[in-house]
Amino acid sequence: MTPDRLDNSLLVIFGGTGDLARRKLYPALFNLFVDGFLPPALGVIAVGRRGFTRDSFRQEILLPSLETFSRRAASMDAYFEPFATRLHYFRTDIYDPEGYTRLEQFLVELEEAGGSRGNRIFYLAVAPEHFGPVIRSLKETGLVPARGWQRVVIEKPFGHDLPSATELNRQLREAFSEEEIYRIDHYLGKEMIQNIMVIRFANTFFEPVWNNKYIDHVQITSAETVGVENRGGYYDRAGALRDMVQNHLLQLVTLVAMEPPASLATEAIRDEKVKVLRSLKPLDAAAVSKNAIRGQYGAGEIDGQMVPPYRQEKEVAPDSTTETFVALKLFIDNFRWAGVPFYLRTGKRLPLKVTEIILQFKSLPDILYFKEYGELRPNLLVIRVQPLEGVYVQLNAKRPGNNNYIVPIRLDFCQNCEVGVNSPEAYERLLYDVMRGDPTLFTRWDEVEAAWKFVDPISAAWAAQGQPQFPNYAAGQWGPPAAQRLLICDARRWWEENGAESIS
Ligand SMILES: NC(=O)c1ccc[n+]([C@@H]2O[C@H](COP(=O)([O-])OP(=O)(O)OC[C@H]3O[C@@H](n4cnc5c(N)ncnc54)[C@H](OP(=O)(O)O)[C@@H]3O)[C@@H](O)[C@H]2O)c1
Repeated sequence: MTPDRLDNSLLVIFGGTGDLARRKLYPALFNLFVDGFLPPALGVIAVGRRGFTRDSFRQEILLPSLETFSRRAASMDAYFEPFATRLHYFRTDIYDPEGYTRLEQFLVELEEAGGSRGNRIFYLAVAPEHFGPVIRSLKETGLVPARGWQRVVIEKPFGHDLPSATELNRQLREAFSEEEIYRIDHYLGKEMIQNIMVIRFANTFFEPVWNNKYIDHVQITSAETVGVENRGGYYDRAGALRDMVQNHLLQLVTLVAMEPPASLATEAIRDEKVKVLRSLKPLDAAAVSKNAIRGQYGAGEIDGQMVPPYRQEKEVAPDSTTETFVALKLFIDNFRWAGVPFYLRTGKRLPLKVTEIILQFKSLPDILYFKEYGELRPNLLVIRVQPLEGVYVQLNAKRPGNNNYIVPIRLDFCQNCEVGVNSPEAYERLLYDVMRGDPTLFTRWDEVEAAWKFVDPISAAWAAQGQPQFPNYAAGQWGPPAAQRLLICDARRWWEENGAESIS
């Protein structure tokens, strides 16, 4: 990022004492501040119910948040004080109309004292059931329209199905235009996700082979070793399909599969992404039975520690049928991708924390060379999203020596392996883009809509199938056996992290 010209504004965070604000938002704002990316007169107003003073908020919320979660924690001595002066705490209940009137007065006072020129950003970091009521109150009590520009940032989940997402969008549109709405999908803020388009469109040797003539299939994995942590209540209502596939994984599919956009303008990119979502071949009930695998973890071992089953997690129903794992095989019905399966999997309590995208190229005809020199492995392009960030290509080459033995080798670029490389967090990029008014890395309504249209029939088919046999994988395994069979039936297999063959 290079510093841009940024308008001053006020950033109001509803849920300013919550987990997201503490783990992501304040550290991101602090890192931007240290790097000189915040507008000079940005004011941040944290809204919560608890009785903090400005000072106790600073000591009990802000300081521990930065010490624990900022990648710039070493800069605290020099930067904490000037950063903290920008933060205010405002106590109210979001269901109290009088609270909004007081908040309006407070914002006007800040606007008159500072240089924010009436520009306002409202960040909804509260539970999803509060999104609608907060938006309605902002409008009814006159906090919007702002005197300057206005933007609203909305956290996931954006609805729990198409009807609820449509209703939420309707409420949003009563107070904000589409251009003013920033729907967060924090995967889009990750460094390597932004890199997908560059890798594809800035390298001569990828784009010509980026199609069904050369690509055998695509694998996208987003695996976590953690369970539901302290979010069991939310997760048990959502499940992996809604929590991960509808947004993050389908967004990755769009970036891998989209056509080159007419320009790098926001809407040109989003236009291409939404075309991919609309081209997804719908899964009917029969296809769901075959190509959509769900799982829930039982007790098992992670990093040498026994962990409890999902059904014993805090705030999870003891007979829960919520899926903590999903594997999907999907197709994109267009000329570029016809016949190329995209295999997606995501889950909790899996053996590794890893997000990566693997494009496996078609094998060469097995007729001519090298048969006696070892098995030719497929060429792979692997985009590592997290925790390692980078990209590598797996090729076949001759092992040094007098015989002609063939081994896989790797051309490997690892962005964050070097000591000293400290990539910005996704929320840094996203908050920065909100402040400068660039919604490219946020999802447009028609993308959200198309993603729900694809996902809802899967939920419905699962509901119609009745009680699943859960738990069906032990914590520490790569999901249920059916997830392996999904590829084995196609004579393929999942590549594990670093499993794109061990390199000799
Ligand atoms: N946490 C994450 O890692 C994460 C990741 C992705 C998305 N999200 C999304 O981010 C949003 C926030 O999640 P979270 O984990 O931060 O939730 P959380 O820890 O439960 O925090 C909820 C926040 O909402 C405030 N709040 C609740 N009811 C309120 C009321 N009636 N009036 C005023 N404030 C009220 C709480 O303030 P007080 O307790 O001070 O009253 C608190 O600041 C959710 O939509 C979630 O889905 C979170």
